[in-house]
Amino acid sequence: MTSPVRVIVVGAGCRGEIYSKYASIHPELMKVVGVADPRKFACSKLQQQHSIPDENVFADWLSLAEREKFADAVLICTPDCLHKDPAVTFARKGYHILLEKPMATTVEDCKLIVEACVQSRVILSVGHVLRYDPLIHKIKELIEAGAIGDVIHIQHFEPVGFYHFAHSFVRGNWRNEAQSSFALLAKSCHDIDLIHNWVGARRCVKVSSFGSLSHFRNDKKPPGAADRCLDCSIENDCPYSARKIYLARVKQGHTGWPVSVICKNSLPDIESVTEALKTGPYGRCVYECDNDVCSNQVVNMEFEGGVTAAFSMVAFTKEMCQRKTTIYGSMGELSYNGHEVSVFDFLTQVSTKHTAPSNAPSYFGLSGHGEADYYLIDAFISAVASNDPSMIRSGPEETLQSHLLVFEAELSRLEERVVLL
Ligand SMILES: NC(=O)c1ccc[n+]([C@@H]2O[C@H](COP(=O)([O-])OP(=O)(O)OC[C@H]3O[C@@H](n4cnc5c(N)ncnc54)[C@H](O)[C@@H]3O)[C@@H](O)[C@H]2O)c1
Repeated sequence: MTSPVRVIVVGAGCRGEIYSKYASIHPELMKVVGVADPRKFACSKLQQQHSIPDENVFADWLSLAEREKFADAVLICTPDCLHKDPAVTFARKGYHILLEKPMATTVEDCKLIVEACVQSRVILSVGHVLRYDPLIHKIKELIEAGAIGDVIHIQHFEPVGFYHFAHSFVRGNWRNEAQSSFALLAKSCHDIDLIHNWVGARRCVKVSSFGSLSHFRNDKKPPGAADRCLDCSIENDCPYSARKIYLARVKQGHTGWPVSVICKNSLPDIESVTEALKTGPYGRCVYECDNDVCSNQVVNMEFEGGVTAAFSMVAFTKEMCQRKTTIYGSMGELSYNGHEVSVFDFLTQVSTKHTAPSNAPSYFGLSGHGEADYYLIDAFISAVASNDPSMIRSGPEETLQSHLLVFEAELSRLEERVVLL
């Protein structure tokens, strides 16, 4: 393909906007030709940035689906519970698909998506961005190169971050399982996917999980606390106060995440943030929300050949999403701290540090997983341009397998038993 890959953004929120930046950096490779989102503000922003014609702006994915196919691919970045229907519909219309994680919120829906993409022979890339992080990819390369011999045990830790958890999983979009999905799927499908990838072709044979919602519950509400932080006389002593998380930030001129998320229909400034905290979900006391998803969860897995893995997700951490991993092998130990990978060789007793060069443009926002976001969309666009799905690291079959493992782990937690697979 010599002309740019034409994409339509379905769901122009945080993720849709991030991926569409690729077209501004590489107009010769990708062009945003349409957008679908019920929020006019979100559509107009993308329409202006990418000069999208009026007739290609849609109030939702269904009205877009009524039109004849007019692009090569769709980027599906709608809320978790709105993935299956657009994914299946657009696959059947012949669009290649970048689908945000989680694929869908039930096993059946995940399978239907894969089936539709395979039958329609379209490329499917799921938003498991960590697979595209250069340093995390290095771990896989080192394992495959035999740097630590046979993988024996994996320990993987995901610190969510105390205010990130309060923002997304207590007050925000992922707080309530019925409205989005359970925490292990919403937050940690990335992590179970990485573990699944690191153990290679071995199948998981046993899984067990424990976890619960701690602290962010009504019975933990301090005496004297109000229902909203702006009215609260004791918010000074509360690390989760919305004044601290949002208002203090915007006063310092910080208008990026998480402040940008809370003003859905305008740019964030002191007035719009104050209004959002007075009336919207992000101004609620963290002990007075309709949240029910786990704040801490562990998953133990045994794979074929006796390889074991232990995963922990915790809300109450200083670090935010900066995973830490140790992989114990028959010939060495590999550790990852987010900045470097280090391999200790048992024979030579020497530690070797590994980094991974990155040429991701800073315009993409390289904090958080900005770099990985860049490489994910880059791989997707290259795969579509050359009709070569092998460039996708998070394709249909393997992603489905790791999602199924997440569902099995949650079943174990709910039924309080080891699930045999
Ligand atoms: N890969 C990652 O690391 C990562 C990180 C965060 C979120 N996510 C996932 O990405 C998805 C989007 O998350 P987000 O943070 O961008 O949320 P968001 O709320 O910012 O964006 C979702 C957008 O979808 C729009 N939408 C709702 N109904 C629609 C419809 N019928 N048709 C079209 N658009 C519709 C909303 O108006 C909103 O603009 C979620 O599934 C989320 O779990 C992935």
